[in-house]
Amino acid sequence: TGFTGLDYGFVNTASTQSAITYIDGEQGILRYRGYPIEELAGKSTFLEVAWLLIYGELPTADQLGEFDEKIRHHTLLHEDLKRFFSSLPHTAHPMSVLSSAVSALSTYYEDSSDPHDPDHVELTTVRLLAKLPVIAAYAHKKSIGQAFLYPDNSMNFVDNFLKLNFGNMAEPYTTDPVLSKALDRLLILHEDHEQNASTSTVRLVGSTGANLYASISAGIQALSGPLHGGANEAVLQMLARIRDSGEGVGKFVDRVKRKEDGVKLMGFGHRVYKNYDPRARLVKESADEVLAGLGVNDPLLDLAKELEQIALEDDYFKERRLYPNVDFYTGVIYKAMGFPTRMFTVLFAIGRLPGWMAHWREMNLDPQTKIGRPQQLYIGEAERHYPSAG
Ligand code: CMC
Repeated sequence: TGFTGLDYGFVNTASTQSAITYIDGEQGILRYRGYPIEELAGKSTFLEVAWLLIYGELPTADQLGEFDEKIRHHTLLHEDLKRFFSSLPHTAHPMSVLSSAVSALSTYYEDSSDPHDPDHVELTTVRLLAKLPVIAAYAHKKSIGQAFLYPDNSMNFVDNFLKLNFGNMAEPYTTDPVLSKALDRLLILHEDHEQNASTSTVRLVGSTGANLYASISAGIQALSGPLHGGANEAVLQMLARIRDSGEGVGKFVDRVKRKEDGVKLMGFGHRVYKNYDPRARLVKESADEVLAGLGVNDPLLDLAKELEQIALEDDYFKERRLYPNVDFYTGVIYKAMGFPTRMFTVLFAIGRLPGWMAHWREMNLDPQTKIGRPQQLYIGEAERHYPSAG
């Protein structure tokens, strides 16, 4: 197996075959297991789509009910693991907390982390789906100095998560159907995106035989970067900076075009989508609706629309085929829901978890899987010799 080519960023190299997600970047098509994202976002739920991604078919009502029950049963975190949060600073970024706590989960479940034992894999899949939202909510509570709540297993997945974030010990929590529906829909839109950087990380780590907790923990870190999932946080920071500086959208776009200090239009551009990102279209549709439904009027949404309009008409962006991606409008919605900016990428991680697990499982079941081990093109010194003494 000789060296076959140099491909920075794997622009031309397929690392695997996969039957999970189909993307046509020219036409803006995204399908999970053959189902168009528009249909799933309109008709399904996060857990149903999770089942679809992981097991390949839509679940029957009984299968979905049983899956939901099992997840509810596993939401509690070990009390010792809850104390793990106290050893981290309250200023810690919630993505680092999330990844560290998932990594720590592997210390609690060594007895069920054999990647080649189907029962272990089933149990770990359910545990991660149940516990990741709880860990995420605790990362939030820790950052604002509030007590952790216990999960309420009489509630559905999304409402339970919202209560863990926004409920407190002093008052009863009331669910808000507008909020839960909107969050469920956003989570569906994030569930999978074939071989993106974090999914490829999950596969690469998993290809060594590492357990699922270790692989997902690495995937969360890969997602945190601003070129990947971290872009949703970066978009909000960018919009707030434009607003606060008073520089105006036109001037900011000029700086992007001059590549001044490497400044980019965050939430724009995609490696695969070259006409539009179908997820961005769905998120944009939701933004007005959700903000109105929640009774929020945010000038940052108007700023985002102005920025998009100017960029879409500009030759720099047209020539490079740069369009808004999924991260462009999600932040405005998460903000309206009450999440702090630093939680945005955590929400992406909860959404992407089923996709990561579906890929990890597919990789382990594929007889052609080998340990991931890219080639390199050596450009260093030729052989030379250590000087002899004297
Ligand atoms: N703003 C300004 N210029 C850009 C942008 C942008 N957002 N994205 C790409 N370009 C320019 C880039 O400078 C290059 O110009 P030139 O040909 O003059 O050197 C050209 O467009 C091609 O870009 P690239 O960097 O070769 O494209 P890529 O496929 O390697 O990168 C990307 C894709 C998403 C990392 C990039 O578009 C980007 O950095 N976007 C901003 C960050 C972002 O929104 N990321 C979220 C991606 S979608 C969700 C997810 O995966 O998490």
